[in-house]
Amino acid sequence: MTPLSGKRILLVIGGGIAAYKTLDLIRRLRERGARVRAAMTGAAAEFVTPLSVASLTGDRVYDNLFSLTDEAEMGHIELSRDADLVVVAPATADLLAKLAHGHANDLASTLLLATDKKVLAAPAMNLRMWLNPATQRNVATLRADGVLIVGPNDGDMACGEYGPGRMAEPMEIVAAITSALERDTTIALPPGIGARPAGANGALAGKRVVVTSGPTYEPIDPVRYIANRSSGKQGHAIARAAAAAGADVALISGPVNLPDPSGVRTQHVETAQDMLSAVNAALPADIFVATAAVADWRMAEAGAAKIKKGNGGAPTLHLVENPDILATIARRNDNRPKLVIGFAAETNDVLEHAKKKLATKGCDMIVANDVSPSTGIMGGDTNTIHIVTRGGIDSWPTLDKDEVARRLVARLAEELAAG
Ligand SMILES: Cc1cc2nc3c(=O)[nH]c(=O)nc-3n(C[C@H](O)[C@H](O)[C@H](O)COP(=O)(O)O)c2cc1C
Repeated sequence: MTPLSGKRILLVIGGGIAAYKTLDLIRRLRERGARVRAAMTGAAAEFVTPLSVASLTGDRVYDNLFSLTDEAEMGHIELSRDADLVVVAPATADLLAKLAHGHANDLASTLLLATDKKVLAAPAMNLRMWLNPATQRNVATLRADGVLIVGPNDGDMACGEYGPGRMAEPMEIVAAITSALERDTTIALPPGIGARPAGANGALAGKRVVVTSGPTYEPIDPVRYIANRSSGKQGHAIARAAAAAGADVALISGPVNLPDPSGVRTQHVETAQDMLSAVNAALPADIFVATAAVADWRMAEAGAAKIKKGNGGAPTLHLVENPDILATIARRNDNRPKLVIGFAAETNDVLEHAKKKLATKGCDMIVANDVSPSTGIMGGDTNTIHIVTRGGIDSWPTLDKDEVARRLVARLAEELAAG
């Protein structure tokens, strides 16, 4: 077994002199157990023959957007999705420009636009073509769009010049592919798009779900407050996913810079105390998901007027503990939701803290994540979580927060159904 065993690579071969190196790339990938499907541009076929490529991939070569036979056997959309990663090698100046600008006038460019997987491009071209501001602009656009780029390297060019533009060596591309595949390569659709409204058929149809999201603000005086870095992205995503699964969702949100999700009743609060009142008022519910990063402390007494500087040094802030929303709801005697889920955002000993939290709060599940600044999770778009229940720990790969939400909602629906 290698990290590439069983991985599906869709290889788009562009019309550059480096296409001969792509033949070696195919061999290296297949040696490592990857399945390679190749699409070639018309120009690529001027440099290497489709027969060579087919012999090395062990599959036919795809080169025609308008082939009725191909569309019947494996349409261009299916071809573009039936892969774990799309690799463009060599990525010609022309292919980079097309992808940066969304052109789709042949099979290769259409596949690149239609795919739902990450694209890794290995540019190869003459150094003037590479250094041309137009190419540099296109590459910057592609990077910003999330396209991965490997190379090019400095070296001797086929045209006799020396400089940047040589395609990365096959083994460098193999390493870049391996590292790209260590993460989830699926590109999620924008929230709320692509999923047919689940309505009466959804996994949570007829269920009520209450979700908290975002930080809380605890006033120090009328102009200052204690807060934290929670963005609310994960909590809002869970509310959206529950609504998409057919649930009646109440979202109780601290101050965030996010739009209210559609199809969800959103109530805005500021403090932990207000959040707790709003959650209590939203019950009964089948599921309560406490995603909000609730401030642990508030001022014993917030200043009625702005605290002024210069009154004998810095003021001492007297703090008292805020109510524990998760534990309060989990321990309710009446109207306790059937499933109470807490989040544990920790910066160290994540699983230890999560197990302790599960035991002390009386909830049914802790979703634990490491929010150390190096992870970029707080405020970022991805999350790496561990589901901690009394039955054990389930660690998920790094996923887009919307995907975390969808999978979590599916899991909660299963647990609810299992009783
Ligand atoms: C001999 C020769 C070598 C070429 N080498 C490259 C190259 O290395 N990189 C590149 O971007 N274009 C190169 N081109 C130009 C491309 O083949 C041309 O832009 C073509 O339209 C690209 O088509 P494609 O992007 O659909 O594959 C070369 C052209 C010729 C005639």
